[in-house]
Order: sequence, then structure tokens, then C-alpha cells
Amino acid sequence: MFETKSPSPTATKAELYGSLAQQLSGLLEGEADPIANAANMSALIFDLVPDLNWAGFYFMRGPGLVLGPFQGKVACVRIPVGRGVCGTAIERKTSLVVADVNEFPGHIACDSASRSELVVPILKNGQAIGVLDLDSPHPGRFDDADRQGFERLVEIYIQASDLG
Ligand code: SME
Repeated sequence: MFETKSPSPTATKAELYGSLAQQLSGLLEGEADPIANAANMSALIFDLVPDLNWAGFYFMRGPGLVLGPFQGKVACVRIPVGRGVCGTAIERKTSLVVADVNEFPGHIACDSASRSELVVPILKNGQAIGVLDLDSPHPGRFDDADRQGFERLVEIYIQASDLG
């Protein structure tokens, strides 16, 4: 059984994401299934990262994004490329930090508690195949250290998983 370790409440973001990266590498070791890995990664993040109300994946299926494994309240299933924070991040192939979702044109509200959001695209050989989406009930929850930390976690996911 894999036991997760909660980082200290006084841990810096560098320490938090260092610990998460180490634990995620261990959790995904020896398993290449992209859905199983996304499911366990969502659970690890939701369990150990403070102040989140949603953490999960959307994957490209045909012309748009479709909901993947996640933790949090039920969410919208399909997001067209170019729509909302997720659809914009995948269109631009870049991470997006949104301090106030109400100020983001076209933001898609799945959980009305969400106030800020971070979306990291999953890129394989330059192709955008999905996104990791994090929502927080607090405005301005995510900064550049969070973006870098989650980009590192997504890189571990990409390396571990058979993404075709
Ligand atoms: N807010 C996202 C939609 C997904 S939910 O937050 C889970 C967006 O605007 O793309």
C-alpha cells in the first residue's frame, strides 16, 4: 500500500512541491496507464495541497476536451478548445494562472465556490493532449511557484504514462 505523507503546515511552496514530486514519482512508478495515473495523481493533489476545491484532468477527445479523473464536485463534461480557462490553456499550449475567475472572459463555472484557477497543459511531442485543472475557493490562490510546482508534477505524469 502507498502511504502519502502530509507536508508540514509550515512548509514553503518549494518544500511542498518537492515532497509532492517525490511522492508522485513513487506513486506512478511501474504503472503506465494514463487514466489510473491521472486518478491517483488527482487524489494525491487533492489530499495534500491546501485550499483547493477541485483538482483533475480533461483530455482531448476529437475536437475538444472531455472530463477525466478528478476530485471535487461534479464538473462540466465537454469544453471546446478556446473556451474557458481550460480551453484557452490548451489552445495556447501554455499554463494559465487566473487570480479572479470572474474577470476571465468565458470562464466556465463548474463549482460556484471557485474563485481562482491554475491550468497546466499536458504536452507530448509538442501536441496538446489534455490539461490538469486546479480550482481554489480563495481569490489569488496560485502564484508562479504553484505554476512551476504543478508543471513539474505534470512532467512526472507525462514521463510515467503511456500517452500514445
Ligand atoms: N473553470 C474551468 C472549467 C472546468 S471546472 O473548473 C472543473 C474553465 O473555465 O475552463
